This record gives sequence, C-alpha cells and structure tokens, in this order.
Amino acid sequence: MSKIEVKLGEIPEGKNMTFKWRGKPLFIRHRTEKEIATEEAVDMAMLRDPQHDKDRVANPKWIIVIGVCTHLGCVPIANAGDYGGYYCPCHGSHYDASGRIRKGPAPLNLEVPYYEFPDDDTVVVG
Ligand code: FES
Repeated sequence: MSKIEVKLGEIPEGKNMTFKWRGKPLFIRHRTEKEIATEEAVDMAMLRDPQHDKDRVANPKWIIVIGVCTHLGCVPIANAGDYGGYYCPCHGSHYDASGRIRKGPAPLNLEVPYYEFPDDDTVVVG
C-alpha cells in the first residue's frame, strides 16, 4: 500500500494543492476560518449525500479528498464553482469546501481517503 507524506507548511491558508497518489489526484486544502464556519453550518437537509463537515475532517483546517468527480471521473477544478470548493467542468458538478456535492449530476461527495497527522506539520495519506 503506497503512502504519501505531505508537509502542510507548504500549503498557504486558502489554497488547495494537488498531489498524485496511487495514480489519482489528491487534493489538500488549507481552509480559512470563514470556510470552516461555512461548511460546519451547512444544513444536512440541503445535501444530496448528507455528511457533516466534522465527519469529513480530522482537523477542520484541512480538507483532504480524492480529486476525482463522482459523476464520470473527471478532475474537478479547485477554488471554483458556486459553493466555494471544487467545480467539475465536464458536466457541471459543484462541490463545497468540504468536498460535498451541492449541484450538478455527481451523485456522491468527493471521497475522503484514510490519513493521519503524525505531527502538526505533516499528513500521511494511505
Ligand atoms: Fe464531473 Fe461529469 S465527470 S460532472
């Protein structure tokens, strides 16, 4: 099982960085306080694939998801779309800054992989 280690200090607040992991794009996003507050406040009744933000993160500053659209597998664009998260240009799926599907044809939220934080500046995914 291949793992990837990422130094979190390299990702500025408000930015998403894309890594390659097991042949797929891996998105790691350093969320702002505003983004965290917005995602934590989302009403579950508004969600197609209801999942609380707290159940998608280990540390609210970091959202870590597989960058593969759950519709037909395109790679979404970060910091785009109507919900401040990710936008898939193939058929117009909008994900929020928790990687949850909010609009468009994708049926499910972006997948959260298994990961751990061995220390404050490091995440190991896989
Ligand atoms: Fe992303 Fe269709 S593959 S919207």
